[in-house]
Amino acid sequence: MAHKVILAYSGGLDTSVAIKWIHDEFGLDVVALTINIGNERDFESIRQRALKIGAVDAVVVDARKLFVDHFVWPALQAGAIYEGVYPLATALARPLIAYLLVKEAEKHGATAVAHGCTGKGNDQVRFDVSVQALNPRLRVIAPMREWSMNREDEIEYAGKHDIPIPATKESPFSTDVNLWGRSIEGGVLEDPWQEPPEEIYEWTVHPSKAPTDPRYVEIEFEKGRPVALDGQRLDGPELIERLNELAGGYGIGRIDHVENRLVGIKSREIYEAPAGVVLHQAHQALEGITMTRDAAHFKAANVAPEYAKLVYNGLWFSELHKFLAAFVAASQECVSGTIRVRLSAASCQVVGRRSDLSLYSESQATYGRGDQFDHTAAVGFIKLYGLPLKTQSEVQMLGQGVSPLRLGPGEDA
Ligand code: ARG
Repeated sequence: MAHKVILAYSGGLDTSVAIKWIHDEFGLDVVALTINIGNERDFESIRQRALKIGAVDAVVVDARKLFVDHFVWPALQAGAIYEGVYPLATALARPLIAYLLVKEAEKHGATAVAHGCTGKGNDQVRFDVSVQALNPRLRVIAPMREWSMNREDEIEYAGKHDIPIPATKESPFSTDVNLWGRSIEGGVLEDPWQEPPEEIYEWTVHPSKAPTDPRYVEIEFEKGRPVALDGQRLDGPELIERLNELAGGYGIGRIDHVENRLVGIKSREIYEAPAGVVLHQAHQALEGITMTRDAAHFKAANVAPEYAKLVYNGLWFSELHKFLAAFVAASQECVSGTIRVRLSAASCQVVGRRSDLSLYSESQATYGRGDQFDHTAAVGFIKLYGLPLKTQSEVQMLGQGVSPLRLGPGEDA
């Protein structure tokens, strides 16, 4: 009996050709694994196509809840946004797909897993590194990295082997979609001076098409996880879908970014992530009232960017992630409350926040009546706080016959 390989099967041309190619090239029986992470598709017809091409088995897994609970929410809690703009939709899905591939491989006693990534992107790294971490004995096959077929060759190969070519119309763009966002690259987008054509967008309207009336949304969080919209409790995937629609309808969540890939290339990618953009903003605003200054600053300056980088760079199953995740989990203990946002054309504004655990104290902050802040205490505080500067001016400037009067660092008055 032939050994088995589990192929991450999207139903597209590349992985359809791969079913046949892997079988012929390596003599392996191919089990097709198609994963639903929120990209609306006809999963049953994809499954049937895999079988028709020659897969010995074809499995569809609905992993939307796993995705949100174990990947999206932790990344949101961490404030993980790569290079300050990309909420990491594609990057977060890869370790989950790797996990499901390995799980399926172990179930079938397969000796290998396969994916349709090219040798140029981040995704191959994320898959391969994750699979190695989860089951070092498994071999990873990446046909697109090994065969030298271009698109025309693949179509010819498909014709020759009676492989049904998916009916999707040919697009000059490469896209990746899941609940947390759409990633679009290639075609005219490769010229970073070119404005993205309107046709690439599917989740967001052009800001000029946004309703004129703003829409207010209340987002409730429990320990850093969104649990309700406008008072209605929703499951993670549903909450994200709802918000994608609401915010996308206002043209919120378009991101145009030239990013630094792990493999050293700068590449232009367009993202649509309406819910991601709104939720990150809201979550950050909630931390703003529930987290102490030093903790919030440390998290934002050190933990969040490092966390984003490791997700982007395919190190989900690393020790560093484990340590950072422990910090993040501890940091979210008091991040509960409600954020009110105002959606208008291409803009999401936080306009209200409240929490039973809020550290914001009106009686401390007010300039009006009921001021509880001890103004006299400020005098002593400032005396000690400014002491090092004062001492330096006295000793190193006045003491040396130099006037300390200056406009700034290194500038003489
Ligand atoms: N640049 C993004 C990342 O590395 C998305 C990659 C996939 N993009 C695509 N259009 N197929 O996470």
